Amino acid sequence: MLSGKRILLIVGGGIAAFKSLDLARRLRERGASVTPVLTRAGAEFVTPLSLSALCGQKVYRDLFDLTDEAEMGHIELSRAADLVVVAPATADLMAKMAGGHADDLASTLLMATDKRVLIAPAMNVRMWDHPATQRNLATLQGDGILTVGPNEGDMACGEYGPGRMAEPLEIVEAIGAALNDGPLRGKRIIVTSGPTHEPIDPVRYIANRSSGAQGTAIARALSALGAEVVFVTGPADIPPPEGVEIVRVQTAQQMLEAVMAAHPADGAVFAAAVADWRVDGEATQKIKKTGTGLPTLKFLENPDILATVSQQGEGRPALVVGFAAETEKVVEHATAKRDRKGCDWIVANDVSPATGIMGGAENAVTIIDEGGAESWPRMSKDDVARKIAARIAGALV
Ligand code: C5P
Repeated sequence: MLSGKRILLIVGGGIAAFKSLDLARRLRERGASVTPVLTRAGAEFVTPLSLSALCGQKVYRDLFDLTDEAEMGHIELSRAADLVVVAPATADLMAKMAGGHADDLASTLLMATDKRVLIAPAMNVRMWDHPATQRNLATLQGDGILTVGPNEGDMACGEYGPGRMAEPLEIVEAIGAALNDGPLRGKRIIVTSGPTHEPIDPVRYIANRSSGAQGTAIARALSALGAEVVFVTGPADIPPPEGVEIVRVQTAQQMLEAVMAAHPADGAVFAAAVADWRVDGEATQKIKKTGTGLPTLKFLENPDILATVSQQGEGRPALVVGFAAETEKVVEHATAKRDRKGCDWIVANDVSPATGIMGGAENAVTIIDEGGAESWPRMSKDDVARKIAARIAGALV
């Protein structure tokens, strides 16, 4: 997927630098060449020897290394790449970038480059939350710098929160998306994700427990294969993917409108957990306890977005994929759902409590298409997303 791509990898000084060794390996496995630059602080965490061994190239370290200048000047080094990746991007490196400093090799390359730059920030939670870092982040994003992560989790410093560097495979995906390269290049795909919120009155709503994890992972995986993704999301727990067009909605009706407005598209993946019903006659003021009995809610059926798009005739995306969360007779029910909705594939899973799939990090799915049912082993939701994206690429290309 990254065959022939040239990545300039700047490794900053943080404990996450060890993950950049794995990142280099994975990029090379995918056919990319990786030219490493190690900052002075980075060399406190990984050795130049291990970085150069994994990249298969010499490590550039010093701005004033005259041999390097004779072989390849820093300007050339910064431009002889398709993408510059900074991983880990420390608070200090981000500050230098935002301020336009150029006092060492890494910062000078970042100032001199004419290529896109992707940073994978990694730092202590408080450093990440610090107004200075957030200000620098906003400046960098305003400058068109791409970001991946940081993720939330346990940190090497013993604290918990956002600050962990994105995992190597997430960075690989972000690189693929930044290079807009891959078999889905030129294809536009709509992805719905998350729950919908159906209002009862201005302060109350009906919702479901969808986290948006699977839809987000699919959008990211499609984008990594080069697709132009329109991500229509209800109010989800997790942040939306980077590098895709994001349309935020609350209700099923708004989601349908956003999906129709995103046409024409080559493909559509409906991973949202859309509420089946909405409240008839949403109250314009907060409903009060009157002491004279309980309020009664009347419901109306929401539009079925998957069925509407699948059955629209002209303008229908070439491939429409729906999901089916079942608790029993998974293949039988999902096959019937595919027929009823008129979509091309159904991604079915067993969400009965014993599986731990609902809200968990793993999924075990069966894909139902016109040829029958294909069951995949249990794997992470990210891996399911990658496999679905690869299957979509096979069908659309
Ligand atoms: O009918 P059911 O909700 O089980 O179907 C699930 C599939 O249909 C999912 O792909 C979901 O995103 C989609 N759906 C929809 N609009 C609805 C209900 C479900 O797009 N109103």
